[in-house]
Amino acid sequence: MRGGVAKALVALLLFVACERASGGDAARREGASLEGVSEDAASAGGDALRGALLAVRFECARCHTRDGLTPALPEKNCAQCHAQIARGELDVGADAATRAEWRARTRSYLNVPSLTHVGARLRRAALAAMLREPHDLRPHLDETMPRLRVSPAEAADLAAWLAPDAEARAPQLPHDAATLARGRALVDSLGCGNCHERGGDRLPAQALAVPLTPDVFARAFALAPDLAEVRTRVRRDHLVPWLLDPRSLDPRTTMPALLRTRADAEAVAAWLLYAPVAPRALRVVPARLPLLTRRVTFAEVQARVFGRSCWHCHAEPDFARGDGGPGNTGGFGFAGRGLSLISASAARSGARGDDGVRRSVLVSRTSAAPRLVEVLLARQREEAGEASELRGMPLGLRALGAEDVQLVESWIASGAGD
Ligand code: HEC
Ligand code: HEC
Ligand code: HEC
Ligand code: HEC
Repeated sequence: MRGGVAKALVALLLFVACERASGGDAARREGASLEGVSEDAASAGGDALRGALLAVRFECARCHTRDGLTPALPEKNCAQCHAQIARGELDVGADAATRAEWRARTRSYLNVPSLTHVGARLRRAALAAMLREPHDLRPHLDETMPRLRVSPAEAADLAAWLAPDAEARAPQLPHDAATLARGRALVDSLGCGNCHERGGDRLPAQALAVPLTPDVFARAFALAPDLAEVRTRVRRDHLVPWLLDPRSLDPRTTMPALLRTRADAEAVAAWLLYAPVAPRALRVVPARLPLLTRRVTFAEVQARVFGRSCWHCHAEPDFARGDGGPGNTGGFGFAGRGLSLISASAARSGARGDDGVRRSVLVSRTSAAPRLVEVLLARQREEAGEASELRGMPLGLRALGAEDVQLVESWIASGAGD
């Protein structure tokens, strides 16, 4: 990152730190308000009240909004700050060129699903499973849910908080061959494929009967889930109502109401639930490239990798008045690892393990690759559906390509200098 931009970013983060000092601090730290948590929910597998408290501990509000959940402080709010930058609303005295540069570079967390109404659409068990083992669910969204350290009991509590009402029994829909064919024909002609895919099946993108503004369409496109998972994810009692009128279950959803009659909606629901799914081609782990034979400087690695993908999770506390990011000073429920990637010397000073002891990330621990490279390779494997104990980096973001990994590896091999 260039010096001018760095200075402006410090100013920006100090600005938000000052802004929030103006009030409501203590109340915000107290945590989420518990409105909307029903007694029923507490008894039905998982405890919604405990879930609400866990949502505060895991800092879900740094990325998500939910009615009744106190928003994260501005300097910690990944989604809010990025959205403000994208809308050009963050005027903190940085010059126009710097702001334009930020805007051009900020891609992540511009579209994050709201958690307010997820319980009306998604099953509690699916929510718990997703929190334990997040995977790439939205084909048009680069970000995924980060892999947090959530135990099975904690996942059940969080799921009970997200989906407080029990799912009602729903009668099985007729799903003979003729019904499935009719469902598929409706999906094709109504243009569900403008937003959705289903496993390996790209659905046709017929013109939509409901006009959407470009902004709304862009958000809907990004947030549309893979329909291959409807059978495990979506509440059976609410699938047909969702198709008939998504807004009756989630007033803020961008999915348009396209189905006109219950009979049509039932045929589409039957197709979603019972038609065979073509498997999606898994992303392949890219082949590792040989080390570069030239010396690689920190500035290069910073410009292409650390200053792009690792930003704000492995920063310096000075940048944000005590918040060095979840990968440095801790956050998202993780203890502080103390790993800053803001300079070569910071990177050389390593990270703290579970035992609190600092170890180098430039040497290998369990495989032939240095720790810093191991985590990058682990993320590539996660994207290919092979999650392991080791959490892949960048956490919840697109894996680096082979050339970027090669650059990091070559920087380490050439002495990890400045
Ligand atoms: C670093 C940002 C980040 C944090 C922190 C985070 N999430 Fe997410 N979450 C995302 C993103 C991005 C998605 C959308 C990606 C996807 O669905 O594949 C997502 C998806 C979800 C979904 C799926 C919603 C849907 O409509 O499909 C749920 C539920 C969820 N998160 C719950 C939580 C909970 C509970 C926490 C706290 C324990 C949490 N998230 C913390 C970024 C985050
Ligand atoms: C106070 C505002 C602010 C907050 C809070 C913030 N960011 Fe950023 N973020 C920025 C700016 C500005 C840039 C662009 C800086 C640049 O590229 O020089 C950026 C860029 C990034 C990038 C690289 C570009 C991209 O969008 O992928 C990542 C990754 C990132 N931030 C992650 C995070 C995460 C994770 C959090 C929460 C832990 C977070 N940010 C919180 C302002 C913020
Ligand atoms: C303009 C984009 C768009 C179109 C067109 C669209 N959807 Fe959606 N759909 C979404 C979004 C976005 C969501 C996720 C809910 C949210 O984030 O508000 C969704 C969610 C769903 C879900 C719940 C899936 C899950 O795993 O959460 C189903 C089922 C669904 N859509 C079916 C359909 C069908 C069938 C059609 C065609 C009749 C269709 N959608 C057309 C955007 C769209
Ligand atoms: C969204 C936040 C986030 C992003 C982005 C991110 N990290 Fe991390 N990183 C973390 C967290 C949180 C941990 C601690 C994980 C744990 O305790 O299991 C961590 C741990 C690590 C570790 C392991 C330290 C150890 O010794 O166990 C390394 C190495 C690392 N990150 C490197 C990177 C690199 C390189 C990037 C960019 C390519 C990156 N991270 C991007 C949040 C992030």
